[in-house]
Amino acid sequence: MKNILVTGGLGFIGSHTCVELINSGFTPIILDNLSNSEPWIKDRIEKIVNQSVVFYEGDCRDKELLNQIFTEQKINGIIHFAAYKAVGESVNEPLKYYENNIGGLTAILEVSQKQNCSNLVFSSSCTVYGTPDRLPVDESAQIKSAESPYGTTKIICEKIIQDLSKADKNYKSILLRYFNPIGAHETSLIGELPLGVPSNLVPFITQTAAGIRESLTVFGNDYNTKDGSCVRDFIHVTDLAKAHIKALEFLTNKNEGTCEAVNIGTGNGNTVLELINSFEKSTGQKLNYTLGNRRGGDVEAVYADAKKSKELLGWEAEISLEQSLLDAWNWQKTL
Ligand code: UD1
Repeated sequence: MKNILVTGGLGFIGSHTCVELINSGFTPIILDNLSNSEPWIKDRIEKIVNQSVVFYEGDCRDKELLNQIFTEQKINGIIHFAAYKAVGESVNEPLKYYENNIGGLTAILEVSQKQNCSNLVFSSSCTVYGTPDRLPVDESAQIKSAESPYGTTKIICEKIIQDLSKADKNYKSILLRYFNPIGAHETSLIGELPLGVPSNLVPFITQTAAGIRESLTVFGNDYNTKDGSCVRDFIHVTDLAKAHIKALEFLTNKNEGTCEAVNIGTGNGNTVLELINSFEKSTGQKLNYTLGNRRGGDVEAVYADAKKSKELLGWEAEISLEQSLLDAWNWQKTL
């Protein structure tokens, strides 16, 4: 397996994964509609790996284009990142999310099946667990009904892939349930590029430290956690990217159909306040923040049981929280 179609390959996780693919001897073929990414990210990827990459500008719902790419590039596997991901926006514009996230996946599945390519890595999320009954949460935990249309699209997409696997005994797929990706590439050439005001914590922190935002609000300090703020499993995006290589290797080594869901997290839970402290310590930047009300739809605490990723894929996170925050800050400084 060599040529990997990477939908959303210029996005935050996609771009880091393209770098790791090339470092591991794969050839990423990027398909991205630039709806939440910039064309110059391609140049940055090329600068990091010192070689050119193939890029198609387009939408993964465009089956004609997908067929063209499969024919031109002899695609052996797919990593499907392309999707909308803003939780709040999805509440206001649910159809946009269902159309794009589900339509994109079904187009990819239909074309890949027709083209006899049955190796799929799907970007899922720990959002499928909702508020877990047990922590750390493992893959056998019940799938809850999601708090947002965004979360619902992840649950539905997982289900679609599972149903296809039952119908097509040769189809090989892996559902990676990401926890909270943060950080940036060590070269500071690629990183997260939030559209407008960031809703995710770490970009909001780095923009506040950079003086773009006046102050960070910690959403809730009365949760039942050690300091009252929410607990999350923050994972460096490079570690996360490397999990995709292990997932592809797992699929390659499988001789029959498979569909596995795997948590991709560090296994450690940190509170929002701990993260802020850690940011101040590792970067030497003082952060202006206040304690505020809870944000609707937030889960009190969620962090991964990371055993399955280690056992099944031979993957575990390696980069510390401090390094992740320092990398996020170094990237912010280049913007
Ligand atoms: C959410 C989604 C997750 C999705 C991710 C991608 C849910 C439950 N989670 O993660 O599935 O993959 O977005 O965008 O749908 N916080 C503050 N102040 C801020 C911003 C955030 O205190 O200004 C807090 C939040 O309340 C939360 C933590 O920081 O406790 C992390 O928030 P965020 O980065 O938005 O990620 P999640 O909500 O965990």
